[in-house]
Amino acid sequence: MQELSLLVKQRHTCKAFDPTRKISKEHLESLKTLLQFSPSSTNSQPWHFVLASSEEGKATVAKATEQYGFNTAKILNASHVVVLCTKVQMDEEHLQKVLKQEQADGRFADEQSMQNQHNGRSFFVNMHRFELKDAQHWMEKQVYLALGTLLLGAAALEIDACPIEGFDATALNRELGLREQGLCASAVVALGYRSADDFNASLPKSRLPQDEIFTLL
Ligand SMILES: Cc1cc2nc3c(=O)[nH]c(=O)nc-3n(C[C@H](O)[C@H](O)[C@H](O)COP(=O)(O)O)c2cc1C
Repeated sequence: MQELSLLVKQRHTCKAFDPTRKISKEHLESLKTLLQFSPSSTNSQPWHFVLASSEEGKATVAKATEQYGFNTAKILNASHVVVLCTKVQMDEEHLQKVLKQEQADGRFADEQSMQNQHNGRSFFVNMHRFELKDAQHWMEKQVYLALGTLLLGAAALEIDACPIEGFDATALNRELGLREQGLCASAVVALGYRSADDFNASLPKSRLPQDEIFTLL
């Protein structure tokens, strides 16, 4: 494992992928595990990931970039493309599914601690639903944590990535039938290996200086 500060400086947004290079099965499993094990508030996991590896699958996702032409080739030439989707509702069925999984994974000593966990999670869900009225925004924040986890993890595996917000969410929701599944597309990530046309690979990285972005107490 490379030193982390080196890793974040070496990773970059890949602007052009080599269509002939594919992510191995083993690395693909690692990428899926990164998404699966990403942290989320109250372990609510309000997400679903659509993974396109076939040419048809990638073409379906790329249809949503008609008005974002600068992203089309990235999606088509990537080895794999992930659509990170957010649930549109945190309903009781989902909360029970998460709770049952935690129980099956051995996290509760007894019935009471399981109930406490459910009450705690429901407290936050209901606060975002009824008082803050930002439940969907809150859920999408969790999905973006998965996005960050994926980007850093891909870099650790020496897989290039391009996070993409430049797409037509309405078109992608329709193409993938996401509305019917209670989901909406939040972000897309193209994954694979850079081509010689990836101009961003040789550009210096740019970030605001630490004395600008940190307050040390
Ligand atoms: C949520 C998100 C959406 C982005 N959308 C696009 C995009 O649609 N197309 C693109 O080429 N780059 C996109 N980027 C890449 C950013 O421009 C890039 O991360 C930023 O300039 C920092 O550069 P670096 O990733 O190379 O360090 C996106 C990045 C993030 C995190």
